[in-house]
This record gives sequence, C-alpha cells and structure tokens, in this order.
Amino acid sequence: MIIAIDGPAASGKGTLARRIADHYGYAYLDTGLLYRAVACRLNAEGAAIDDEEAATRAARGLSQDDLRREDLRQRHAGEAASIVAAMPGVRKALVAFQRHFAQTPPGAVLDGRDIGTVVCPDAEVKLFVTASLEERARRRWKELGASGSEAQYRDIEEDLRARDERDANRAVSPMRQAGDAHLLDTTNLDIETAFLAAIDLIDGAVKA
Ligand code: DC
Repeated sequence: MIIAIDGPAASGKGTLARRIADHYGYAYLDTGLLYRAVACRLNAEGAAIDDEEAATRAARGLSQDDLRREDLRQRHAGEAASIVAAMPGVRKALVAFQRHFAQTPPGAVLDGRDIGTVVCPDAEVKLFVTASLEERARRRWKELGASGSEAQYRDIEEDLRARDERDANRAVSPMRQAGDAHLLDTTNLDIETAFLAAIDLIDGAVKA
C-alpha cells in the first residue's frame, strides 16, 4: 500500500503524512530531506549550489549519516534544496531509493512534490495538500514564536513564493497535482481537522 502526499512548502503535508503513517502503521519518508541533504553536502564540500556535477555526485553518494544532519531543517537548506532539486541528475539519482522505500511492507507514506506524478504514479492513494501562501507564511512565522518580526514575515512569504515558483516551473518533475490525486486545502483547517479529512479521503479511496 502506497500513500503519496504532495504539495508546497508549509502546507502541513509533512505533519499530516507522519500522522497518517502512524495511524495505519506504515513507514514514512519525508523526501524533501533527500534534496536538503544533497544541498547541505554540497555546502559542506564548499561546492557552488549550482554545480550540477558535484550535486549529482553528492546525490549518488548520499548516506544515512547525511540524512541525520542537524542542519537539514534550516530555512536556507530548504531554499538550497529547491535549487538542486531542479537538476535532472540529482532527481535521477534519488528516485530509485524512494521507489524502493515505497515498497516497505505493509505500506509506506511518502511526501514531496512529485510522488504521485513521477516517483509512485501507481500509488493506491494520492493527496495534494495545499494552503494559501499567506497562511503558509503565517504558520512558518508563528514557529518563530515571539522572536518573529513583521519584516521576517515578509521575508518568509517571499521565500515561499520563490520556492513555489521554482518547484512548480522546473522542467523535470515539477510540483503538480496528479490527475487522480485528492485535493486537500488546509488554509482554514487546524491539523486535527485536516488529519480527519485526510483519513476520510484515504479510507474512501481504498474502499472504492
Ligand atoms: O518538502 P521540503 O520543503 O523539505 O523540500 C525542500 C525542497 O526539495 C523543495 O523546495 C523542492 C525539493 N523537493 C522536490 O523537488 N521533490 C520532492 N519530492 C521533495 C522535495
């Protein structure tokens, strides 16, 4: 059983995917971490972020240690990941690992940008999780707690806008809702309501 969850940054897809995996007892892979790890490795090697050859090499040689790095979740890692993720060599190097993971019994949940379209086009259930740009920026900003200023909110919004544009408009495996994916807009939903809506969609799709 494969559940594919795609959507833009800060849409809530990661939190949802993890909870869905827990709920069904399935394995979970945050595929964004793979692209983040490639970007962080490049950075550690002192290579330029647009060096496709070095990025492809880094993607081919990715290890479990790279996926445990402390800096993967930082904001600049997300930005840099979006740059290396547009490189065909990097995507090609990472797809086999993702497809292999997707076969974990009794099921797997993968979240990313191209899971339902490219990595697992035959997934039994596909969700495309989204939310308005303003709401996604507000969520990221709230994570900063009391330290988040108005100017930081605008920076976050601009980062997310630029990232959406790059992820949705690249030539290889752009972020796109698969034709057979269920759309889940979380703009006005708290996480609990979004989770229940996702479970309804999944249970409905499995029964159908
Ligand atoms: O989901 P995230 O924010 O951790 O992803 C970081 C970047 O990695 C994102 O901007 C685009 C890229 N990515 C991708 O191209 N394909 C995926 N399946 C997952 C992430």
